[in-house]
Amino acid sequence: MKKITAAITGVGCWLPDYLLTNEELSRMVDTTDEWIMTRIGIKTRHILKGEGLGTSYMGARAIKNLLDKTGVNPMDIDLVICATVTPDMFFPSTGNLIADQAGCKNAFAYDVSAACSGFLFALTTGAQYIETGFCKKVIVVGADKMSSIVDYNDRNTCPIFGDGAAAVLLEPNKKGYGIIDSILHSDGSGEVHLHMKAGGSRYPASKETLEKNWHTITQDGPAVFKHAVSSMADVSVEMMERHHLKSEDIRYLVPHQANLRIIDATARRMGLGRERCMINIDRNGNTTAATIPSCLYDYENALRKGDNLILASFGGGFTWGSVYVKWAYDGDKVSE
Ligand code: UT7
Repeated sequence: MKKITAAITGVGCWLPDYLLTNEELSRMVDTTDEWIMTRIGIKTRHILKGEGLGTSYMGARAIKNLLDKTGVNPMDIDLVICATVTPDMFFPSTGNLIADQAGCKNAFAYDVSAACSGFLFALTTGAQYIETGFCKKVIVVGADKMSSIVDYNDRNTCPIFGDGAAAVLLEPNKKGYGIIDSILHSDGSGEVHLHMKAGGSRYPASKETLEKNWHTITQDGPAVFKHAVSSMADVSVEMMERHHLKSEDIRYLVPHQANLRIIDATARRMGLGRERCMINIDRNGNTTAATIPSCLYDYENALRKGDNLILASFGGGFTWGSVYVKWAYDGDKVSE
C-alpha cells in the first residue's frame, strides 16, 4: 500500500487593516525609513487595533478564509493546531478559542509554542496525524499579535514585528504530494538572546515586573542574526542534500520573514536567486508564526502541482528547521 502523506490542500490568511509605516515609527523612536529598509527590509506592518481583540480573532478569520476558499465544512475539521507565542491568555489554548470562533466544533485543538519556527513545528505535528490515519482534515494556523509584546520605545525591536494570521489545510494524499520531510531543532541555551522575561511562572506579572519592563521582547539582534544566518542555511542545504535536490529543482524557498538579509543569505547558500524566494517582509514585517503560511497565501497563484518547496525558519528558543513540501495543486485554479 502506498504511504499516506499530508498534502496542503488550501491556504487562508487574515491581516489587520491598520498599517504602521516607517514614517510613523520614526515619530515614535529615533529611526529612519532608510535604516529600516537597508538593515531589515520592512516598509509597513499590520497592527491589530481594538479593545479586547487578541490572536484568536485573527486566527479564526484566517481559518474562515481558508474554509471559504476550499469549500470545506468547518464541522469536518478533526484537529486545529495553532502556532503562537502571543496566546489570548494562558488557558484555554488559543487554538481552542480559534476552533470555536471558526465553527470547527468537532475538532480538538491545542497550541504549539516554538516562536518563529512555530509554524514548521506545528505543520510537522499536524502531518503526523494525517500520516497515521488518526485525522482526515487538520488545520495548522500560525497567528501572532506581536504588537502586544513589542516595546514601542525600543528602536532595536519595534520596527521588526507585525500582527497577522495564516492557515493551511492538511489532507491525506497517496500520490506522494505534501509534507515529504522535516528537520527540526531546539536549543534552549538561546534563551538569553531572545525572550520575554516576565508574565510566566518564573516571574509572574507584578508591579515590579511592569516597572522593569519585563513584559516585552528582549533581543540581542546581532547574536540572533549570526545564529539565524548559519542555522537556517545549514538546515535548508541539509534538506536539499538528503533528497538529492539541486537548486534548479526547487521552485521556491519559503523562508521565515525576520530580516531580508537573512533571507538573502539562506537563498545564496542554496544557489537560489531572489525570484525563487517568497518574500512579503516588506509589507507585513515579522509576524512570527504567520510568516511562512502568509507567504504561501501570497504566492499561491504562482504554485503548480509538483513544485518543490523548502520551508525554513529560525527563531526564539532557539528553534529552527526546514520542511520539504511537494505542492499538491495548481494555485491559479483556486477562486476566492
Ligand atoms: O524572528 C525572530 C528572530 N529574530 C531575528 O532573526 C532578528 C535577527 N537580527 C536582526 O535582524 C538584526 O540584528 C537587527 C535588525 C535586529 C538589527 O540590525 P543590525 O544590523 O544587527 O544592527 P545592530 O543591532 O548591530 O545596531 C547597529 C547600529 C547601532 O548603533 P551604534 O551602536 O552602531 O551607534 C544601533 O543602536 O544601529 C543602531 N540601531 C538603529 N538605528 C536606527 C538599532 N536599531 C535602530 C533603528 N534605527 N531602528
